Amino acid sequence: MSEYLETYRRRTPGSAALYERARKVMPGGVSHNPRFYPPYPIYIDRAEGSKIRDVDGNEYIDLWMGHFTHILGHKPEPVASVLGETAEVGSHWGILTPWQVEFAEDICRLVPSAEALRFGVSGTEATMHALRIARAHTGRRVVLKVRGGWHGSNNDLVTLVHHPMDVPESAGLPPQTAEFTKGINFNDPEGTVAAIQRYAPDLAAVVIEAVGQYFVPPVPGYLETVQAETRKAGAVFILDEVITGFRLALGGAQARYGLRPDLMTMGKVLGAGSALGLVAGRRDLMALTDPTSGRPKDQIALIGGGTFSGMLPAMRGGRALLRYLEAHQDEIYPALEEKGRRVREGVEAAMRAHGVAVKCFGVGSLYSVSFPRDDRPVNDCESIEAYTDVAFRNGEFKARMLNHGIFTQWGGGAVSMAHSDADLDHIIHASGEVAAEMAAGLKAAGR
Ligand SMILES: Cc1ncc(COP(=O)(O)O)c(C=O)c1O
Repeated sequence: MSEYLETYRRRTPGSAALYERARKVMPGGVSHNPRFYPPYPIYIDRAEGSKIRDVDGNEYIDLWMGHFTHILGHKPEPVASVLGETAEVGSHWGILTPWQVEFAEDICRLVPSAEALRFGVSGTEATMHALRIARAHTGRRVVLKVRGGWHGSNNDLVTLVHHPMDVPESAGLPPQTAEFTKGINFNDPEGTVAAIQRYAPDLAAVVIEAVGQYFVPPVPGYLETVQAETRKAGAVFILDEVITGFRLALGGAQARYGLRPDLMTMGKVLGAGSALGLVAGRRDLMALTDPTSGRPKDQIALIGGGTFSGMLPAMRGGRALLRYLEAHQDEIYPALEEKGRRVREGVEAAMRAHGVAVKCFGVGSLYSVSFPRDDRPVNDCESIEAYTDVAFRNGEFKARMLNHGIFTQWGGGAVSMAHSDADLDHIIHASGEVAAEMAAGLKAAGR
């Protein structure tokens, strides 16, 4: 067994035992595929600030941060005290509350394109509902999405996600998924425009993230072109801000890049750690969902979050977080920007110093690490999947970083306000140590 796996197993016997039990009751031992990584995942029982602790007592600097949710860190004070009070009030009534109205008003005030919104409980549901509105509005069927983009596991969008992309993403998908969901390449303006024009007569929507999967930044002008061409085609421009919303700026990626999507989706940061998603956008489009409009039911887009929409922790926690972000925006967003820049540059330099070919992508507080296999250009999610060693990044690199006390996702992750300078130094140092181990391994193998 490789030395890094021996170390991993020696440090985490409690997690190994839990994983063995988990496998007997959950296929693959998990309920969401990215939570498995080889040889077995760690199990944590505590999280605070920038740190998590596993059941064997090992502490890690967390870069996963609840799927990029916790922008202030784990259990941040402005949210923790409100959640404490909320526990006294209740958890879920399924009846309207004043907090839902106040939260919706705050979001519409702070997010440029949000003229009206509806809450749900996940990003998967939000993007599914955005497409339903787009199809109701246009009467068309085709959706364009970025090859390599992830918008959740709804039938329409769980396609063209991972390399090789000519193979369906999942068993059990209806044939309409392949027929009506088509791909574009991120950062390829000519190809994207050509696809929009080609499908225009039946094009309901283009759905895109401002920052590509693995946090690849958009080339200047790309998003504006996609927005303009989508409108020209009479289709709905949907910006998926599930990761970027309230993270890249208070007004999200749309504020940062000067976009005005027709519809947008949010999740993650929005709920301050509780399950929450939303679809928002132009008043006339959102009005298509209004059950009080008097129109017949086949002219109303049926969307809504179901049983658990508007749960108290999400409404009260999210509202408290948003108010804090608004009050401290001048401090928070520049600080996140600087932390992200420092860790990206630091990690890349530390690894290259040991001769490891590495590329860090990212924007603001987000970053990923890729290991190119050769000199082919890597500038979008598909080329990262095709030309870099994703299996190594998600397997050996992740395990080695865990051995050094860092929990990464996609080789990096999301820094939060809780990540101190010492944390960033530790991440950079650990990356250098792992690069030295990798270089030694390559040398031993005579490569
Ligand atoms: C950009 C984007 N959209 C949608 C989703 C789906 O959100 P959820 O996991 O809340 O269903 C995700 C989740 O990772 C995402 O990153």
